[in-house]
Amino acid sequence: MAQRFAKSMPSGPLEAGGESVPRHIAIIMDGNGRWAAKRMLPRIMGHRQGAEAVRRTVKAAADLGIGYLTLYAFSSENWKRPADEVDDLMGLLRLYLRNEISELHHSGVRVRFIGERLRLSSDVRELIDHAETLTTNNARLTLVIALNYGSHAEIISACKRIAEKAVANEIDPASIDHAMISKYLLTADVPDPDMIIRTSGEKRLSNFLLWQAAYAELVFLDCLWPDFDKAVLESAIAEYSSRERRFGGRQA
Ligand code: IPE
Ligand code: IPE
Ligand code: MG
Repeated sequence: MAQRFAKSMPSGPLEAGGESVPRHIAIIMDGNGRWAAKRMLPRIMGHRQGAEAVRRTVKAAADLGIGYLTLYAFSSENWKRPADEVDDLMGLLRLYLRNEISELHHSGVRVRFIGERLRLSSDVRELIDHAETLTTNNARLTLVIALNYGSHAEIISACKRIAEKAVANEIDPASIDHAMISKYLLTADVPDPDMIIRTSGEKRLSNFLLWQAAYAELVFLDCLWPDFDKAVLESAIAEYSSRERRFGGRQA
């Protein structure tokens, strides 16, 4: 019922999804530290198991026919953590990209990154470039990895570029609209997320896709990220399917 209604909405920039399986799922992968603490293990063990959960989830998303999966891997604020934890997280990312890229490629996954790349070490930037170039023509699932990503920085950068064009008389300020701003974001050619999942029981967005989340269904799960698997993803999709998306409109 809810889905039929969503489909009947007039098309516009905010319309998305409308199917029982969301087209774009974004996940705030939280709770690695608490998973480790519960077991009296060092935090790195939680992050390692978190990387396993990433593997499972990408495969599950492809199997379920999801078009886009965005994973929040490292926020622009995560640099505030102790240097050894930041190193562990970057190390796991290197391992993931080195070990998984060929399988991702062969299973038809397109890999893309959003976030500020300049602060990343040059070998990580090379792995990112390689992953994006290798998989650029794949179309089964687009995996967007948010790395050193922050929504505020993304929106500020878009504003600066639009302002520069306005000063150069290439843009009429009166023509700035939703579509133009979306085009200047890092997610320019990615549809807005239909559902944003956050694990670990925290109920906030932590500077993730603030513009793009305008009409996303928010699903907060108590599950800690290292425990996430296909069954949990399916339960989140079931929750999504039970919701009525109105986009500001009303039913009849
Ligand atoms: C998520 O787990 C991983 C990243 C933020 C990179 P946390 O490390 O935030 O785990 P908690 O929130 O301390 O449990
Ligand atoms: C959000 O988790 C960032 C990622 C999952 C990469 P955090 O654990 O960093 O968020 P806060 O600090 O609890 O808001
Ligand atoms: Mg956390």
